[in-house]
Amino acid sequence: MSEPVWPYYPLFLKLQGQRVLLVGGGEVALRKLRLLQRAGARVEIVAAALTPEIGLICETGKAVHVAAAFDEAQLRGCRLAIAATDDRALNARVAAAAEAAGVPVNVVDDAELSRFITPAIVDRAPLMVAISSGGAAPVLARRLRERIETWLPATYGRLADFMRRRRDAVRGATAQGEPRGIWERFLDSPAAERVLAGDEAAAEAGLRALIDARPQVGEVYLVGAGPGDPDLLTFKALRLMQQCDVVLHDRLIAPQVLELVRRDARRLFVGKARSQHAVPQEQINAELVRLAQQGLRVLRLKGGDPFIFGRGGEEIDTLMAHGIPFQVVPGITAASGCAAYAGIPLTHRDYAQSCIFVTGHARKDGTLDLHWDQLARRGQTVVVYMGLHTLPALCAELIQHGLPADWPAAMVEEGTSPHQRVVVGTLDDLPQRVQAAGFKGASLLIVGEVVRLRGHLRWHVEAAHVAPR
Ligand SMILES: C[S@@+](CC[C@H](N)C(=O)[O-])C[C@H]1O[C@@H](n2cnc3c(N)ncnc32)[C@H](O)[C@@H]1O
Repeated sequence: MSEPVWPYYPLFLKLQGQRVLLVGGGEVALRKLRLLQRAGARVEIVAAALTPEIGLICETGKAVHVAAAFDEAQLRGCRLAIAATDDRALNARVAAAAEAAGVPVNVVDDAELSRFITPAIVDRAPLMVAISSGGAAPVLARRLRERIETWLPATYGRLADFMRRRRDAVRGATAQGEPRGIWERFLDSPAAERVLAGDEAAAEAGLRALIDARPQVGEVYLVGAGPGDPDLLTFKALRLMQQCDVVLHDRLIAPQVLELVRRDARRLFVGKARSQHAVPQEQINAELVRLAQQGLRVLRLKGGDPFIFGRGGEEIDTLMAHGIPFQVVPGITAASGCAAYAGIPLTHRDYAQSCIFVTGHARKDGTLDLHWDQLARRGQTVVVYMGLHTLPALCAELIQHGLPADWPAAMVEEGTSPHQRVVVGTLDDLPQRVQAAGFKGASLLIVGEVVRLRGHLRWHVEAAHVAPR
């Protein structure tokens, strides 16, 4: 799925001592001048007339009135240009000249002529919140700013400044990867409150205590990420995803889910494809131990639920053997997710009183090692994980062990995602239908009379539905 293109790239620009050309000498120009001065820019003003306030600023040498009329030579060496006049033709001329000279330009209230726009800001310097709707809805951006203004204490700037001044000291006193955890504990501790209250000495002592008491070993979070739809993550999964230092994930994790992992966490792909284990399980286990022993908070993100065909048990076994603390967060397994989004209840009073999960993964010699007598029964639902490539054999065995050839079965590909596809058929014809549909992604087989219920329980909008003849 392609992501929408951003209308603007967000960034913060260092302007201390840098030349900025401001064309215009009225009230709008004055507003821009004040902001540029806050950022320490050397503002050069081009205007036929100046408001008394701008005049005063120039007289005191805090800005320079360079000329009455605009000339493109004035742009030379400037980092930015701002056109803030009420003469659209002049603004357009400034914009064209700046574009030609490669100087980013903003024309106030004219996004079409502008290379950059300025966001609505919440100023708690050095902490800054910048909000933009990309020009789509400035009123919405302003509304959001008002909310953040009331929510963000005025003293947060002081807190950010305290942290900035101690960054190097904390880095020097700790090992690589540790400072983030210390700063997080600091923000949750009374020491942060002491900064806000203006008592830096007490805050300093609190920070020192946190450094001295830091755990020597990190922690591993074994988290089930569900079958694909990010809305199916648990609150706990999301919380741990946002506080990890490093994440190990595999192929089944949807990009939209990975997006929610803390942005600056290191990402290690330990992808597993069928019969091609990119990183052997033992190596993954060892890596989890190694990273946690460095004091890091390690997120092991698994598709679905870690304890259902996920080898989660083996991973925590190794962690236990090495005394590494860990947490396990269950996730929605593919069977629950796919069945719900396909409109197929896994159990039903009239059709299925039990439900069995099995793996359709073939052994090295290509055979399937399943208890067919238990699976080929009426009154139950059988869900087969990893059964796409063995589908013909699975269906044939179920028929051979007593289920009718016209017994309902469905295959769900990339269930719960926007690409979900479902093929419905019978044990007899499903393999050929699935092959015709060209399924290649993660696919789950559901066998049982409950499949018929999809006929009227289907609710999720799908990429494609292949119905029985
Ligand atoms: C190694 S197993 C992992 C199962 C996972 N631990 C769980 O609880 O869902 C991988 C198999 O799960 C199934 N699967 C996982 N996500 C799926 C999805 N979104 N749609 C269909 N099948 C899925 C497929 O059968 C896939 O081959």
